[in-house]
Amino acid sequence: MSRSKSTALFERVFGDSSGCDAFFAPGRVNLIGEHTDYNGGHVLPCALTMGTCAAVRRRDDGQLRLYSADFPDIGVVSCPVSGILNDPAHGWANYPKGVVKVLRDDGLPVDSGFEMVVSGDMPVGAGLSSSASLEMVTAVALSGLFSLGLEGDEGRARMAALGQRVENSFIGVNSGIMDQFAVALGRAGSALFLDCATLERRFIPLNLGEHEIILVNSNKRRTLAESNYNLRRDECERALADMRRAGASASSLCDLTPEEFGRWSDAISDPVCRRRARHAVLENARVLDAASALEAGRLDLFGKLLNESHLSLQLDYESTGRELDCIAELAWQREECLGARVTGAGFGGCVLAIVHRDGAEGFMRFTGERYRRYIGHDCSFFRSESGDGARRV
Ligand code: GLA
Repeated sequence: MSRSKSTALFERVFGDSSGCDAFFAPGRVNLIGEHTDYNGGHVLPCALTMGTCAAVRRRDDGQLRLYSADFPDIGVVSCPVSGILNDPAHGWANYPKGVVKVLRDDGLPVDSGFEMVVSGDMPVGAGLSSSASLEMVTAVALSGLFSLGLEGDEGRARMAALGQRVENSFIGVNSGIMDQFAVALGRAGSALFLDCATLERRFIPLNLGEHEIILVNSNKRRTLAESNYNLRRDECERALADMRRAGASASSLCDLTPEEFGRWSDAISDPVCRRRARHAVLENARVLDAASALEAGRLDLFGKLLNESHLSLQLDYESTGRELDCIAELAWQREECLGARVTGAGFGGCVLAIVHRDGAEGFMRFTGERYRRYIGHDCSFFRSESGDGARRV
């Protein structure tokens, strides 16, 4: 959404738009490296061109006024900037409220209050990080409004870490750092190769040749808070604890190479936890291989690693479900598709497919028709390009 549309929405909600400023934060698609971030591993996401817009203006009475065009029934949410609490009745607005809270807890001066309208052009609860997009658009807007200095590479990295804290301590989802990092720091035309243990990172050109990314939304919505996300994280921690007790010197699962994991995995007492850990370790190895394959232009290998990632999430991590498995299996049948896998946390949401441009229409027709026949409702398609990270517009 453009600056003028955001400003028009602001005017409609708050009467006039004098002195308001506009910001944007994208969603993200993770190419590969799922459930590795909180296991100290690598990820390879890129920012999208779709995302969330915000128009904001300062107030001087210490009050927040928040409105989302995507949740009109909730209306304008109001509360003071101090003493912010998570209120289930505030729905979406808990994310910007959480951002204000963690910024203030971190000593950043968000004191005088503000009013903000947001609107997005991306599906919510579809594994494309609509919540990180909302957090980062709030943070970038407040940095602009209150001169918080969360600018440049390091400022954006701090912003991402604060966004993760919103999820962990305010929303109650023990998520990793990937989403906020990709949303805050993404670059058009590039994938972000991030080591989540050290935050070392570099950008890899997203050269897909004649191919494009097609996102297939299963239209099975979920929120991470309701999903088994936190349970999976606990299972990984239990697996690590068992191996450490037996003598493995690893501070996270992804410290282990697949060979090392083979030596220690018998120490994991629960076979379910063993499978969760196997996914994390092998997925991390796949990210390293996929990054090299992308850099070397070996797209066939890149696609094959994507397929393996999906199977590992399906069979070992059990975070896919029949809708996502159906889409992946349909995609794998198509010659024009190099590879396809669930993207994001799973339990619903989107499959990412790398598809030859000439076959894109046929791919969507085939997948759409069969999906409806097998699952009983429609899937939808997005042909979003990679885009830049959170910014003023
Ligand atoms: C969600 C979380 C991320 C990451 C992915 C799975 O998107 O927010 O931190 O764990 O799931 O890879």
